Amino acid sequence: MKHNSLYIGTAVPNRVFSEWGKYSDVVTKSFNCFTPENEMKPDALLDGVGSRASLPESYTHAKVRFLSCEPIIKTAISTGAKVRLHTLVWHSQTPDWFFTEDYTEGGALVGRDVMLCRMESYIHDVLSYFIDNYPDLIYAVDVVNEAFDRDAGDDSGVRRKNNKWYATVGDDYYYQALRFAKKYSDGKIGLFYNDYACMYKPDMILSNLKKARDEGLVDGIGLQSHLTVGENLGLYFDAMKKFADAGYELQVTELDIGIKEKSKENLRLQAEYYGKLADGIASLKASGTNITALTVWGISDELSWRHGEYPLLFDENLLPKPAYFEFFPKLCGI
Ligand code: XIL
Repeated sequence: MKHNSLYIGTAVPNRVFSEWGKYSDVVTKSFNCFTPENEMKPDALLDGVGSRASLPESYTHAKVRFLSCEPIIKTAISTGAKVRLHTLVWHSQTPDWFFTEDYTEGGALVGRDVMLCRMESYIHDVLSYFIDNYPDLIYAVDVVNEAFDRDAGDDSGVRRKNNKWYATVGDDYYYQALRFAKKYSDGKIGLFYNDYACMYKPDMILSNLKKARDEGLVDGIGLQSHLTVGENLGLYFDAMKKFADAGYELQVTELDIGIKEKSKENLRLQAEYYGKLADGIASLKASGTNITALTVWGISDELSWRHGEYPLLFDENLLPKPAYFEFFPKLCGI
């Protein structure tokens, strides 16, 4: 399938590449870019044993390795797909040892200066690996993921709860991450702030990102878009408009739309909802909104992290669901 001004992607776990014969048709016919579902997260790339073994030299420079990324890189290159780098700085799926004095789970946390060195070296090592070895493969990077949350955050909404970045670096950790990503970027990879529930907190996101935006450190906002049928799409499009008015490039990065049980009626409602989302995106694009990519968070319901909610476009037999037919033709017309 051909897409025009929009990358259309899917999240792909390594499991799919190890059974590529089964999935290749579905993936390559519908999608022209991939996001590794877990394989480029810090817990996949950071090498605790290697870092510990080479203390004290590695004290401010934890080791990284890229074994987990090989299948996605190889398949993207052979099929001509682009890759979204997800994600550099996140409170989740980042090992506890990365933040401690001796790189052990239970060690004392390091202070701000040391953690800023580790953040810088990590961002440098990951970005330069891809830029040097695979120029033009990565179209965007989620530099910071999920840094703002009213309930889990401080007075400005910066995530404090269960967040070792906040505990070590402090409340500007997301700004520092964007600063380092800008420093080591090749100027071609889009630098993104990515978050969930963006429709419920657009102003908080915009005000927290303002300084970084004014300094040219962030290009775009990624709207994860883990939705449920019935959620207010008006709010969703309003948030998109607010972000676009503030000058951001927009990407839908992790779309899935849940239903309660898999009845015929629910599948129809899901299809209708997917269709409305595609219509809204098409009309925003038509009026000049800078939406550049849309990624669905997985291939089939069976593979989905929300598999109990049947949120994706293909069923367990890899057959297109009603949602597929309401969604894809509209998007591909953009
Ligand atoms: C999820 C993956 O889909 C799961 O396989 C994993 O166990 C947990 O993470 N926001 C994100 C994604 O940015 O990285 C998350 O992916 C879903 C929520």
